[in-house]
Amino acid sequence: MSVISIVGAQWGDEGKGRIVDYLATDADVVIRYQGGDNAGHTVVNEYGKFALHIIPSGIFNPKATSIVGVGAVVNFDTMEEELKGIPEELHNNLKIDVRAHMILPYHCLLDGAEEAKRSDKDKIGTTKRGIGPCYSDKAARIGVRVGELLDPEGLRAHFEKILPKKNRDLEYYGLKQFTVDELMEKCKVWAEKFGSRIVDTMPIVRKAFDAKKKIVLEGQLGIMRDLDWGIYPYTTSSNPTSGGAANVSGISPRGISDIIGVSKAYATSVGGGPFTAELFDEDGKKLRDIGHEYGATTGRPRRCGWLDAVALDFSAYMNGFTGIAITKLDVLDTFETIKVCEAYELDGQVTKYLPDTKGQERAKPIFKEYKGWMCDTTKARKWEDLPKEAQDYVKAIEKYIGVPVKYVSVGPERDQIIIL
Ligand code: GDP
Ligand code: IMO
Ligand code: MG
Repeated sequence: MSVISIVGAQWGDEGKGRIVDYLATDADVVIRYQGGDNAGHTVVNEYGKFALHIIPSGIFNPKATSIVGVGAVVNFDTMEEELKGIPEELHNNLKIDVRAHMILPYHCLLDGAEEAKRSDKDKIGTTKRGIGPCYSDKAARIGVRVGELLDPEGLRAHFEKILPKKNRDLEYYGLKQFTVDELMEKCKVWAEKFGSRIVDTMPIVRKAFDAKKKIVLEGQLGIMRDLDWGIYPYTTSSNPTSGGAANVSGISPRGISDIIGVSKAYATSVGGGPFTAELFDEDGKKLRDIGHEYGATTGRPRRCGWLDAVALDFSAYMNGFTGIAITKLDVLDTFETIKVCEAYELDGQVTKYLPDTKGQERAKPIFKEYKGWMCDTTKARKWEDLPKEAQDYVKAIEKYIGVPVKYVSVGPERDQIIIL
């Protein structure tokens, strides 16, 4: 079969969960390879509606193994809460890699405090889930890996070593400090609840890969908030790109057969940083209302804009998309005119090249108009069911980025999809 990597092609919330849920119906393994519970992946299927934060969106296929991978950071309290909302018969195949890192209570406190210190202009708008501080500890080699839950003595010794420094950081911000006993108590509960799921997942992944099984890699967030290629410092602290997937999923770059970028038919961003094609007018408000553009994790209103073809073209190049999934086409059903940002004006020049963060802050969007279709697309299941103007719009996106559109989603439910 194949290894399909699902990557957020924009600023996050593109509908990755919805596409993974669809592709996972016949998958053997689904791997959430990076990020943590900053994610909100919405899935609507026969079991109901779920906003998954740390559990892979493949959990709804009882035959698939769902793996929280090496590159992820895990908050076990969130995981426990989330599992409570998912039918118990689906819990069996959830595994967490021993190498993933644990989000500890001090990470969450520090995330909030560091964000509070930033001026309004500089705020990243983090989800305050401890993501940045946890990945910082990982890079500084003072992180705590999930596998340490299985070795209480070793874990205690590790906390004894790292906690004085963490407590100094907490003290700097005037925050509550922790004792080793307190943390060990929490870890004991987590080990009891999750110990049997904590394994080295590499043999599972490799066996599935060697047997040519179907493996789906579920990315978190999108390239525009990638730590290296995104709008730094308004980024997350991991790599949501396809390169990131190859780095931490346990599959080599050569082993990935399909890379599907997921993009909305327009654009949204939640949090700080430049967002060149942002709308501040009635159209932006209408996109937010019709698209229900409120964060699945924080409930914050999402900033809305027209599709940014400059950013999407960069995304297609950097990720090496073999195909693209366009989601939420139906949200545009009642717009007489639809626009696409097809170039930027930057320092008096017209460019189709995506500059770095500072350049994006100075860039002004140049829009091209497309005729809207002004009819309901939510019942379309084949390409021919789409009105001509919608087909033209999808084809135009394909042309901007030079990548074939493989899926068009016209609603949040599993079957509201057109396969091309
Ligand atoms: P993710 O983080 O990339 O998985 O995306 P989110 O779940 O945060 O945001 C996508 C939102 O759009 C969710 O509320 C989905 O239910 C919804 N959604 C996904 N695809 C479609 C679609 O084609 N049409 C509509 N109307 N809603 C969709
Ligand atoms: P999914 O997987 C949208 C944004 C935050 C903030 C920045 C850093 O559902 O697409 P972090 O908490 O990671 O340190 O925040 O990234 N952000 C998201 N935006 N969807 C997400 O996840 C996000 N996860 C983080 O708003 O600007
Ligand atoms: Mg989301």
